[in-house]
Amino acid sequence: MQLMKLTLRIIISLFIGISLVVVVFSAIQIKDEKNRLQADLVRRSVIVAESLKESIVTLIETGQIERLNRIVEKFDNRERLKGIAVYDASGNIISLTSNLQASLSKTPVEVVNTIVDKLPSLKILKLHNEKIYIYVIPLFSESTTEEKLIGALALFQDASYIDIRIKDIWKQNIIRLLALTLSIVAISILIIRWSITGPVARMAEWLKELRSGKIKESSDIPVKGDILAPLVDEVTTLVKTLSMVKANLEEEERLKAGTDSYWTAERLKEFIKEQLGDKKLFLLSNREPYIHVREGENIKCIIPAGGLVTALDPVMRACDGVWIAHGAGDADRDVVDKNGTIRVPPDKPAYTLKRVWLTKDEEKRYYYGFSNEGLWPLCHITYVRPVFRTDDWIEYQRVNEKFATALIEAIKDEESPLVLVQDYHLALVPLLIRKQRPDAKIALFWHIPWPNPEVFGICPWAREILIGMLGADLVGFHIQFYCNNFLDTVDRFLESKIDWEHFSIERRGHITTVKPFPVSVSVENFADGSDLTDLREKLLKELGIMAEYIGVGVDRIDYTKGILERFLGIERFFEKYPQFIGKFSLIQFGSPSRTHIKQYREIMESIEETADRVNWKFHNKNYKPIVFLKGHHPHSKILPFYKIADLCMVTSLHDGMNLVAKEFIASRDDEGGALILSQFAGASRELKDAIIINPYDIESIADAIYQALNMDIEEKKQRMRKMRHIVQERNIYRWTKDLISSLVRL
Ligand code: G6P
Repeated sequence: MQLMKLTLRIIISLFIGISLVVVVFSAIQIKDEKNRLQADLVRRSVIVAESLKESIVTLIETGQIERLNRIVEKFDNRERLKGIAVYDASGNIISLTSNLQASLSKTPVEVVNTIVDKLPSLKILKLHNEKIYIYVIPLFSESTTEEKLIGALALFQDASYIDIRIKDIWKQNIIRLLALTLSIVAISILIIRWSITGPVARMAEWLKELRSGKIKESSDIPVKGDILAPLVDEVTTLVKTLSMVKANLEEEERLKAGTDSYWTAERLKEFIKEQLGDKKLFLLSNREPYIHVREGENIKCIIPAGGLVTALDPVMRACDGVWIAHGAGDADRDVVDKNGTIRVPPDKPAYTLKRVWLTKDEEKRYYYGFSNEGLWPLCHITYVRPVFRTDDWIEYQRVNEKFATALIEAIKDEESPLVLVQDYHLALVPLLIRKQRPDAKIALFWHIPWPNPEVFGICPWAREILIGMLGADLVGFHIQFYCNNFLDTVDRFLESKIDWEHFSIERRGHITTVKPFPVSVSVENFADGSDLTDLREKLLKELGIMAEYIGVGVDRIDYTKGILERFLGIERFFEKYPQFIGKFSLIQFGSPSRTHIKQYREIMESIEETADRVNWKFHNKNYKPIVFLKGHHPHSKILPFYKIADLCMVTSLHDGMNLVAKEFIASRDDEGGALILSQFAGASRELKDAIIINPYDIESIADAIYQALNMDIEEKKQRMRKMRHIVQERNIYRWTKDLISSLVRL
């Protein structure tokens, strides 16, 4: 209806516009034509009159009236000339064309005027309803030298053809106007239909179907490339945003929803058996779960720090299978069999660890270089500049091939094996596997954040990395927000079909689904029901300090962890609340990490310096505000501190998830302790009962410590209870089950 109105409005406006133009131009044309025709008439009258004048004067003066009549008669109805008349000096007719005799009963005024004025005169007059043009000239005697008037000659021309011509012009122009209006209107209607009403109708239909859920994909938009293109872009973005909002809400719902019962190692084992039968699980990561290192004459096995190992070791223990990882320990080669494998954990073997050997140069360029100087700072927005070197990239590709080859070898006897590739070190592995084993089901889990397309685009090999990742059937991130960013990035850099409804990407016939799986810990490994009596005193005594309140921090020394900000927060806390000087200590476990990289050495130095400075400022005999325990600490050593702490500090500047927050909660079966958690850690999306801080705001850290220490016991318990419920429910076994069932379902 609206479109009908619009069409009508356009047609009426066009008609009025065109009519105005035609009328104005016609009026001008008619005026010109009239002038031209009249001038022509005058010119012809003058010529005829001048040519007759002499002979008529002679005939009048010689009295040859008969001859005069014969000449005058010759001009009877000659072409447009109706006739002529000759008058004497008194205005009486001497001779007149017979044609005019009936109509000219008296002398016309113009003749009288000419005789009186002795000048030519002209006029258009009506004779018997005919438009006649009269032209009169005076006749002078030729026999005297004086100017003696002897009469007048009048020519009568038919002027009606001028009106006929003018009418014709009007007629032609009106026909032209109609034809023009008709064709312009027809063309306008066609353009409106093609470019406006058609696309608008199709767009409306498309939006209706989208709303009703009949169609899903943004690429289905039916009006690409025409007048609505800018609108299409906006609508696509809107659809995308709505899909993201919907996915976020679904994620929240899913997180809120309870499960039938908790997932345990046993339950996962059953589930895997049910899903995979006798098939094994294959896992690939750069970092190995157990590192064998030399200590003097002995070989020691250590568990490296970092969320990936914390999360996945319990899974592999429960499911058995093969974990392929870089053998980084200096005694790693000494303990494996000829295939480079060893059953782990050493005290209770449950799965196979297959080690991949890298040369020093490979480790330098692939691990330190491309992975940790390039991708790590690229994905963590902490304003450490990523460095991308071609040599690192070449090695990164080679090492990814090495890992893929190791896996292909390991799965050679398996049919449709399930492969779980881990993290940013192995982004190219999914495609490398799929090329050789299209039957494999491949999931890639990205343990760190995924930035927006602008940031990711900094990487010179952004496209290659995305293509490699899209070899997987399933790409997992911790939270929906990273999934959104990933889809946006693919959308920006690759030719592919994105389904925003289902969060999947189709590229060259292969579909990759993108989903959030918030990683977690195994609660039973932390809640051991151990006796807490005297534990605090014992631990403090071991450290040689005294404190009424204890905070704990556990981190790999990394610039993303916000350790420096944490220490500055403590300093500010003492400045603001000096009553806590001598009473509150933070015990900070820090395991050195990636120390061959300059930024890591620098952050270590600044952390130590800051700890020293703050300690110097506020320490006394048996008291130290910050106890910085640098070194590799086994879980068994950290766990008791989690249990006795009044608060745990997680102040990451950016973090995919952060499992320390979840470990702390998992270990608090007494429901005590408060968690201070950075808003930039993925965990803050789930653990909303933590005291959420912005680590860039030192004041907020100081106030959070104060709030945690002054929190009412009941409130503390309530918060902890809610968070424990979340961590218990969404534990690592459930994470694995969700990941595997999603993968199997694909
Ligand atoms: C993060 C990464 C892991 C990595 C861990 C420890 O959690 O996502 O892939 O293993 O840090 O870092 P490292 O370089 O010591 O393996």
